[in-house]
Amino acid sequence: MLVQENEGAYPYSENDLETTLLMPSYRVELRNAQNVKDQFLNANLVNDWSQLSWKDVGRPYEVKTVAKDRTDWEFEHQQEMPVKTSWEFFNRSFHEWFVKDVPAELDRNLKALSGHVKQFRFGEVKEAIGDHIKLRLWNYVHRIEDGIWDPRGKRALFEGLDVQRPKILFLGAAEGYEAMQLAAMYPGAEVVLVDYDDYCKTHRFQEFPDSYPFLGTNLATGSTKVWYKDQLTIEYVVDDIRNLKYGKEFDIVLSVGLLEHVPDEHKPDILEMHRKFVKPNGYIIMTTPRDQMKTRLYYKIMADVMNHTYRELMNIQQMGLYVYEAGFDIVRHGYIKVHNGIIAKSR
Ligand SMILES: C[S@@+](CC[C@H](N)C(=O)[O-])C[C@H]1O[C@@H](n2cnc3c(N)ncnc32)[C@H](O)[C@@H]1O
Repeated sequence: MLVQENEGAYPYSENDLETTLLMPSYRVELRNAQNVKDQFLNANLVNDWSQLSWKDVGRPYEVKTVAKDRTDWEFEHQQEMPVKTSWEFFNRSFHEWFVKDVPAELDRNLKALSGHVKQFRFGEVKEAIGDHIKLRLWNYVHRIEDGIWDPRGKRALFEGLDVQRPKILFLGAAEGYEAMQLAAMYPGAEVVLVDYDDYCKTHRFQEFPDSYPFLGTNLATGSTKVWYKDQLTIEYVVDDIRNLKYGKEFDIVLSVGLLEHVPDEHKPDILEMHRKFVKPNGYIIMTTPRDQMKTRLYYKIMADVMNHTYRELMNIQQMGLYVYEAGFDIVRHGYIKVHNGIIAKSR
């Protein structure tokens, strides 16, 4: 079927549509058929957001299990970890998982585990079992289910926007995945990725695989086309999103996993940062992790990998209410695999 990844920088083409392939670190996903389930579920739960109140929907769930690196740092420094430092810890830790050769790592882990068992090293046995559970979970969530990048869900959420050659601003961009997916779907896009952690530019974005295929559109023919990172127009700005000097010049302002990282008193500021840079009638797109039992369990097991920052899990009604109350009309709201997704316009 598909050519192997080492056969050049652009290993997949339109001839590979409707196929999928498990690589050591991630899934290649070229299935594009409209009838495939588990894309974007248009929740359509709320017709009139003005009728919804916090009394109806309750407050988000706060994740309280904290990464050991954070508690160690706070013990050593005798102070609360500053927010930016917590993101620096998070990005270095999370990135390590994206570049893992998961099957090889599982193999190494099992060999180590059996060595420790044979020598009755119980402390090491416990640690290796903990590593094993995390590796298995990561393998399932990121590689098998493809729940984190979720290209099918994101494509379904992003489809049908009324934009041409859009300017796209990604606030808190990390590796920039979703803006690259949008740029593939709306060719001729100019993307600005912003993150104040320079490691995101130098490692998370830089080391994002050049050979990863994004399914999008051929501008000339309107048919499906496979795009790659280095075919897209992307500028990476290392700065605090609060310092940006742009005007209302972007067709799309995007954030993925940002709103849930601040307590309620700061959420209006985060939402305002989206409005500040979006053209009149432009789109804001936001996703946040869904509050489900399996997500709560994921963040508990992966706490040492991911929980350096303040973090909430919310449902789509809660997320929508934050967005609505901040002065946006909600164009589309629903679920992708592990996130809620909202497309909105400034009122
Ligand atoms: C949770 S990440 C987003 C999730 C992302 N898709 C991932 O895979 O990690 C949020 C990103 O926002 C960045 N960030 C948070 N506050 C910021 C700020 N005030 N200015 C710029 N970037 C910020 C963090 O450095 C982090 O990389």
